[in-house]
Amino acid sequence: MNVAEPITIGLLGAGSVGAQVARTLVEERELISARVGTPVRLAGVAVRDVENPRDWRIPRELLTTDAERLVDEVDLVIELIGGFDPAAGLIERALRQGTAVVTGNKALLAAQGAQLHALADEAGALLRYEASVGGAIPILRPIEDSLSGDRITKVMGIVNGTTNYVLDQMDTTGAAFGDALAEAQKLGYAEADPTADVEGHDAAAKAAILATLAFHAPFTIDDVYCQGISDVTPDDIEAAALSGYVIKLLAIVERRSSGAVLRVHPTLLPRTHPLATVRGAFNAVFVVAENAGELMFYGQGAGGVPTSSAIMGDVVAVARRLRSAVPETPLLSDAEDLEPLSIEAAETQYYIDMQVADQEGVIAEIARVLADHRVSIESMRQPGSVSPEGEVEDSAGSDAGAQVQIVTHKAQERHLRATVETLESLDVVQSISSVLRVEVEQ
Ligand code: HSE
Repeated sequence: MNVAEPITIGLLGAGSVGAQVARTLVEERELISARVGTPVRLAGVAVRDVENPRDWRIPRELLTTDAERLVDEVDLVIELIGGFDPAAGLIERALRQGTAVVTGNKALLAAQGAQLHALADEAGALLRYEASVGGAIPILRPIEDSLSGDRITKVMGIVNGTTNYVLDQMDTTGAAFGDALAEAQKLGYAEADPTADVEGHDAAAKAAILATLAFHAPFTIDDVYCQGISDVTPDDIEAAALSGYVIKLLAIVERRSSGAVLRVHPTLLPRTHPLATVRGAFNAVFVVAENAGELMFYGQGAGGVPTSSAIMGDVVAVARRLRSAVPETPLLSDAEDLEPLSIEAAETQYYIDMQVADQEGVIAEIARVLADHRVSIESMRQPGSVSPEGEVEDSAGSDAGAQVQIVTHKAQERHLRATVETLESLDVVQSISSVLRVEVEQ
C-alpha cells in the first residue's frame, strides 16, 4: 500500500473545463495517482455560487466560495476562472507561497507571462499552461521540451476554433458570416464575447505565448499585429476558391535575424497546404525547426472535455515534479535578445483583388507600379469584366471595367503597402476590394 502523503489539489473555477477536471480528479483518482506515483486528492473547488448547475455534479463537500483559503491550503492550484480578476491575484498568491500552478489562462499569460514566470522562479514554484494554446493539442511541451535541442524558426497555427469554423462553413456551404458565427457559439467554441475570436485577439494571445516559448524571449499580446476576419467577404472566399486557395485565420510567429515578427490575420493558403485541410473548429499548429524540419500538431482546440485532457497532463507532470523535488530550470534562463518587429518588416506573398478600367495599357501601368516598388508578380488573373454594379461578368471587353487578381512573390510589407497606396491613386484603378497575405511555403 502507498502510504505517502497525498498531493492536494485546489481547483479554481468549475465552468465547462473545470467541471471535467473535477470529474477526472474524483472518478479517475486511482489512475491519476498511479500515473504520478503518489496519491493525489482534490481538496476543494472554489466557485462563485455553490448552487450553480454544472456539467458534472461536483460533490457538495468539495465546493467553497473561499478561493484564497483553498489556495493557501493545497500543494497544487488549477486556475480555470480565466481573465484577469480575480484569477491573476490568486495565481500570484499561490506562486509567492511556492505552490505549483496549472492554468489555461491565455489572456493572462499573454499579458503577464514573464512576470508570472519570474515570480514562480523566485519562489521555486512550478507554472504550466498547456491548455492555453490549442486546447487538447500537446504543443507547448513539445516546443519547450522535445524541441529544446533545436532552434525553431517559424510557427504557424490555426489556434482559434470559432473563426476556423466560421471560415470553413462559409467556404464549404456558402453560409453567411453571422449564421456561421451563431452556430459556432451554439456549439460552445466561442469566447463569452465573440469579439475576442472574430477580431483575432484570442489568436493573438496564443501567438504571444507560442513566440515566447519557441524563441526563448518574452513577448506579449501587444507585440502581435492583429487583424480579424470581420472584413472577409463571401466574394473573397469565392475568389480564393477559384484560384485554388482557402482563407484561414493564422497566427504566425517568425524569427528574423534582427528580431521576430508576430502576426494574426486572414491568410490565403493553397488547398494543398497541410493547414488548409484543417476543417470545422479543429486547431493545428505547424512548427518549423532548423533540424527537425516541419512538424504539425492537430486536434480539438476548445471544449470542456478535450481541454481538460491538457490540464490533467500538466497536473500529472507537475505532481511528478513535486514528488521528485527536482528544481525547475527558469523558463527564460537562456533568454535571447530578440526584439518584436513591426508588421512592416514581415515578408510574405500577397493577393490583390482590384477593379480596373478595361482599356489598353492598364495591365502594363499596374505592372510598372509593382516593379517600381520592388514587388514581383507571381501570377495575374483577369476572371471577367465588372458591371457598373460591381458584378463580375464573363464577357470581356465591357465598357464598365475588369477585375484583376494578382498574387505577388514574397515582398516586404512596407513595399506592399506603398504599392497599394500608389495603385489606389491611379485613374485606371476603380477600387481595390481585397489585399490578403498568402502563405505558400510549407
Ligand atoms: N474561443 C476559443 C476558440 C476557445 O474558438 O478556439 C479556445 O481558446
